[in-house]
Amino acid sequence: MTVDQIAEAFLTYFEENGHLKAESAPLLPENDASVLFTVAGMQQFKGYYLNPETAPKKRITSVQPCARTVDIDEVGDNTHATIFEMLGNFSFGYQGNGSEANGVLRTSRMARPLDDDKNKPYFKKEAITLAWRFLTEKLGIDSKRIHATYFKGDAVTPADEESPKLLVEITGLPDEKIIGLGRDETFWGPTGNEGPCGPTVELHVDGTEVWNLVFNQYYCQDGNYSELESQGVDTGMGLERLAFILQDVGNIYGIDTNAAILKAVITQAKTENEKAARIVADHAKAAAFLLSEGLEPSNKEQGYVLRRLIRRAIREGARLGLESGTYPRILETAIQVYGQRYQRLKNRQADIVAKWQVESSKFAATLTRGLAVLEKELAGQPDYGQLSFFLFESYGFPLEQTLEELKERGVKFNLAEVETVFNQRLAEHQSLSKAGLDQKFKGGLAGHSDQEIRYHTATHLLNAALRQVLGEHVWQKGSNINLERLRFDFSHSAKMTDAEKLEVEELVNGWIKANLPVTKQVLKLDEAKQSGALGVFEDKYGDEVSVYSIGQGEDAVSRELCGGPHVKNTGMIGQFKLGKEEASSAGVRRIKATVNAPSSIPFIAVY
Ligand code: SER
Repeated sequence: MTVDQIAEAFLTYFEENGHLKAESAPLLPENDASVLFTVAGMQQFKGYYLNPETAPKKRITSVQPCARTVDIDEVGDNTHATIFEMLGNFSFGYQGNGSEANGVLRTSRMARPLDDDKNKPYFKKEAITLAWRFLTEKLGIDSKRIHATYFKGDAVTPADEESPKLLVEITGLPDEKIIGLGRDETFWGPTGNEGPCGPTVELHVDGTEVWNLVFNQYYCQDGNYSELESQGVDTGMGLERLAFILQDVGNIYGIDTNAAILKAVITQAKTENEKAARIVADHAKAAAFLLSEGLEPSNKEQGYVLRRLIRRAIREGARLGLESGTYPRILETAIQVYGQRYQRLKNRQADIVAKWQVESSKFAATLTRGLAVLEKELAGQPDYGQLSFFLFESYGFPLEQTLEELKERGVKFNLAEVETVFNQRLAEHQSLSKAGLDQKFKGGLAGHSDQEIRYHTATHLLNAALRQVLGEHVWQKGSNINLERLRFDFSHSAKMTDAEKLEVEELVNGWIKANLPVTKQVLKLDEAKQSGALGVFEDKYGDEVSVYSIGQGEDAVSRELCGGPHVKNTGMIGQFKLGKEEASSAGVRRIKATVNAPSSIPFIAVY
């Protein structure tokens, strides 16, 4: 059976058993701030467990794409995926009366065939029966391959005494295949801080957990459990896991859907690396799903996860020698494979590919350089938190990626420390950018808008280029920046020739292209003078001054005394163009210039 056929068989079976077939919910939850993504099929029905009368039907079934970000790091092994589909059947508003034991008695004494009550809510007995029949009768899985687990209770909530009895009765499994376990394995929920939850029965095939039957009988709020007025059922079965068992392929990348995407990766790869290929296939599929819902890569929340997925795919793709032109085919394969059941993938195909390409080309440009910087830094004894932030800020490496790179190189680091430093730097950076932004909104041209900061750094480059082309008699005599241009006055007596102007322009653009880092040092006045920094030292008082260098060490193309801020790397300035050059006063020339940075280049300032 193909994945599509299994999904179809599941829905049909539950429809035949009185369930309403519900559309899947978006991966980006609409009314649930407690989680970033939809992580379970029950999520869109959470309210029905509390208010069953609002449910369109007391029995519902669905196939729900879910994203579990905790699993991202595990992707590449045999069972984990960023996005997977969950087959589910749900029941709301069951009125059990009295204790668990009475429940068993009541249901057994009535011994009614399931089929009589197709529209009514159900609880443990029916849920287990429906699941068992689906696996063994519909799918024909030999019962000998199956074992079941149930909740054996703890100090917080009592044991589920009913389920093991029902399991014996319904499945006929021997005692040793009905296993009581603790909370971690056999109690589910709530999603987020609050919601319905309860003990579970889990069905395993050949030792792999495939189906989780949750008996929602509690409501949990901030760690406190209260009994729900009516009980509900929430089941979830991993479609990919079930498919790899039925297709007997041993891992989720072998199933027909994933195999097609993996093939699109492998046939375009220049080198063999199964794990990298799996990660690219998984992340491309996940990104396609998220992009199909209109999510954009960003540095926040869901957008950050999407950014991480795309960038990690590009990183792993680099190991395979994948060029940026190969990704559309991988994405299109994923869209083709899933488009039948998820129309929005097809509807947004062009958009998905275009957005991926924008994000990936942005990152591909900095990946190689970032990795080279990482290697170089690791030769010394860097502070890994600072290094992670530097790679994030300058080369767009998500923190998780740097951590992976470190692990891969056998570097030992203290995760908590690295995260603390990284987060501190990030918070500083965000509040500084916000300060810049606030000023911009105050309407003042305080010089801290992105564009003005670009102009400010461009002015330093222009100063350096003029001195190189015209001679060291050139000194800054004045400078003025607005959002449209920079203006620069400098000591020089002759009109610049076209050839000189061209040379200056090319020098500046060459430095911009080289993406030179801009760094700030706080130096003693004397040290600053000795370092050859340009600037007006005379009216400086106090002990220390800031010097901004463009380029590193001896190779710096510019060192100037300055209050900042500047761009973090010259590449962020964009295309530099000289404009009018004219006399300003005796022995002083005035020149104007513009810069033009495409919005795809990230902007980061050094304050
Ligand atoms: N909510 C449970 C799970 O996610 C069953 O659907 O496993």
